[in-house]
Amino acid sequence: MRPKTASALSIGNIQQTLKNAIAGSLIRREDTALIFYDLDFLQIRIRKLISSFPPGSLHALAIKANPLIRIMDFARNIHPRIGVEAASPGEVNLALKTGYLPGNIVYDSPVKTRDDLEFALKAGVHINADNLAELNRIDMLIREMVRGYDPLSSDDAQGMPPPFQGTIGIRINPQVGLGTIHESSVAGTYSKFGVPIKYQRDSLAEAFLKYDWLTGIHLHVGSQGCNIQMLVNGIGILYDFMKEIDEKRLHKGFRPISIFDIGGGLPVSYRQDEEPPSMEAYVAAINLRAPGLFEWQVSSPKIKDNIPKPEIKRTSYLKHSGQPADISTRTPTLITEFGRWIYTNAGWTVSRVEYVKRDPGIHTAMLHVGADLFLRECLNPKDWSHEYIVFDSNGNLKTGVNEKPYNLAGPLCFSGDIIARKVILPTIEESDYLVIRESGSYTFSMWSRYNSRQTPRIVGYFNDGEKFEILKDREAMNNLFDFWQ
Ligand SMILES: Cc1ncc(COP(=O)(O)O)c(C=O)c1O
Repeated sequence: MRPKTASALSIGNIQQTLKNAIAGSLIRREDTALIFYDLDFLQIRIRKLISSFPPGSLHALAIKANPLIRIMDFARNIHPRIGVEAASPGEVNLALKTGYLPGNIVYDSPVKTRDDLEFALKAGVHINADNLAELNRIDMLIREMVRGYDPLSSDDAQGMPPPFQGTIGIRINPQVGLGTIHESSVAGTYSKFGVPIKYQRDSLAEAFLKYDWLTGIHLHVGSQGCNIQMLVNGIGILYDFMKEIDEKRLHKGFRPISIFDIGGGLPVSYRQDEEPPSMEAYVAAINLRAPGLFEWQVSSPKIKDNIPKPEIKRTSYLKHSGQPADISTRTPTLITEFGRWIYTNAGWTVSRVEYVKRDPGIHTAMLHVGADLFLRECLNPKDWSHEYIVFDSNGNLKTGVNEKPYNLAGPLCFSGDIIARKVILPTIEESDYLVIRESGSYTFSMWSRYNSRQTPRIVGYFNDGEKFEILKDREAMNNLFDFWQ
């Protein structure tokens, strides 16, 4: 039904799946809304990502876009170089519990406490510090941990593991400007994230020449609304900086910078008539602007095969201050952190239409999802909108155009709970199904507890709806009680 390389699911795929779900009683009476994921499509996306970048790249999928454990687990099993990007200790914990290796977890957050950092250092994940003060904190923690490390007390014949095995980078704001959506652009002249390179180049250089353990560079330009050129400009600026700083580190006898993390941000299309930029085009543009970046990674002999094992090489931490201790370093690794590009087009939401209100000039379809699932759409509809499909209660596609437009209203107790206004659609009736397309990312992950509604059943499917798998069931009433007590 769908060409393997399509950038969105076909209406046929969605219709067939919905019909099968209705016929197979997957949509029960209480399932007033559900979220569906095409797991074949998701797998194709992930494989496309892996094949577009050089072997050995670590693809840390952004948990914030989709934290469903079953989906994280599904992704992890596709390839050993699938990791996750975690935005909080909670997300790091989700990843560890799902079975991600610490070395495949990237921990980014602009507000990490001392305890958060200690937890991450001990867990052995890759930490991207957000600012220079955080580097200072990390340095103190490492010193404390190194002091507490006593190899002689180990009963392990191979020797005790070093106090920590993770790696550390710093987020740098390349200051390439804002994209079309300001609230999700993070590389303007001012940003709350990272260290601005134009203002703090010298301090950044100083940090790289002070901390031997600082071996990573991280950037993230924005999420949706940033074109390829902006993303690539950011990479280029920091790639040049890395080369310059690496030379100086070499002279000092410091280990080389071995991690270059380009973040996420490749935009997707929420409209069927718009072709989104492709991953191939993005990768080609990176290659043009930073031609050494991909060779830098593949030049390492350990990274030549398809499933590289990260090489853990012990070198001496604090060797310049004369205190012997161990810390690990890795072979050069390029990291990506895509979220939206991976998940958005694989998922759709369906709500039963409970009522249709008919007012002069406008009809209102009353739905079971609103700002609880589509927060951005309700608050900023100019920048965030979807396409909708109407089916009857048996899953048959409705066509034609109603004479009056529709507002699509959610169930929450505030008047702004309208996911779309004045939409031209076929005639909608009570008990119809309304599908909200391209809703596989930044929807359920942003779920709001306002009004204490139960979270919907979430279903994965294969073969255009021939086979289903419940990814998460509709929330039980008791859970709500537990949440609030
Ligand atoms: C640090 C970081 N990395 C990756 C992402 C994922 O971005 P996207 O979902 O647009 O690929 C985000 C999202 O904003 C982010 O903040």
